[in-house]
Amino acid sequence: MFLKNQKKFYGRRKGRRISSVNLKLLEDHRNKFYLHEDQICKLESHEYNKNILEIGFGNGDNLINMSVNKPNYLFIGCDAYYNGCVKLLKKIVNKNIKNIKIWPDDIHLIIKKFKKNFFDLILILQPDPWPKRKHEKRRLIQQKFLDDLNQILKYEGKLIISTDHNVMKSWVLEHLHIRNDFLWIKNGYYYTNLKPKWIFNTKYSNKALENNKVVNWFFFKKK
Ligand SMILES: C[S@@+](CC[C@H](N)C(=O)[O-])C[C@H]1O[C@@H](n2cnc3c(N)ncnc32)[C@H](O)[C@@H]1O
Repeated sequence: MFLKNQKKFYGRRKGRRISSVNLKLLEDHRNKFYLHEDQICKLESHEYNKNILEIGFGNGDNLINMSVNKPNYLFIGCDAYYNGCVKLLKKIVNKNIKNIKIWPDDIHLIIKKFKKNFFDLILILQPDPWPKRKHEKRRLIQQKFLDDLNQILKYEGKLIISTDHNVMKSWVLEHLHIRNDFLWIKNGYYYTNLKPKWIFNTKYSNKALENNKVVNWFFFKKK
């Protein structure tokens, strides 16, 4: 259903038919791991040592690895691609992970529902570049969206973005350069091709590296 005032989502929502085994898995575990809209404003920031949001997690490789390494952190993963969410759910159940919650829909639907100053870190790894000029409104990173991210980050909380696409690289530079509520971190470099060790390669970053493309990393903190 498309709600009034809902921002239109342009990416892919569904892929192949979900197998009956995975549908059963969804039925059995969705209540435990899929966030309901009403739960979001009730999340308390002090329940875990850190709160991390990954927007557009794809098949969830980074989330799974980070959450295993940091069992005392809460990871909220958001992706509007239904099949990717089921894949992540399957990995969570198989690995008996307890500290990931999934929002299986558009981030815009919940971004304003989180408490202010909730997150220590927000990750956006390889956002869709929508490279054509006529599609630039479809890009996830927009000034209003950055306002919302800033609100839900803690003071000095980090925003990390990666991309191998030149259009997106310029877009990130342009959009964050003019803001005074996010500071660049990385000792004077605007971006680097060095991935932090504690973040894991994803499907899209692996694909880029296999094709000898440079993955650029941008690091900001909330001022
Ligand atoms: C290019 S893929 C990158 C996936 C993953 N981060 C990786 O590096 O392999 C972008 C992902 O962002 C998701 N996405 C795009 N816009 C979104 C939105 N508004 N809300 C939630 N997810 C979104 C897409 O469904 C897709 O899975």
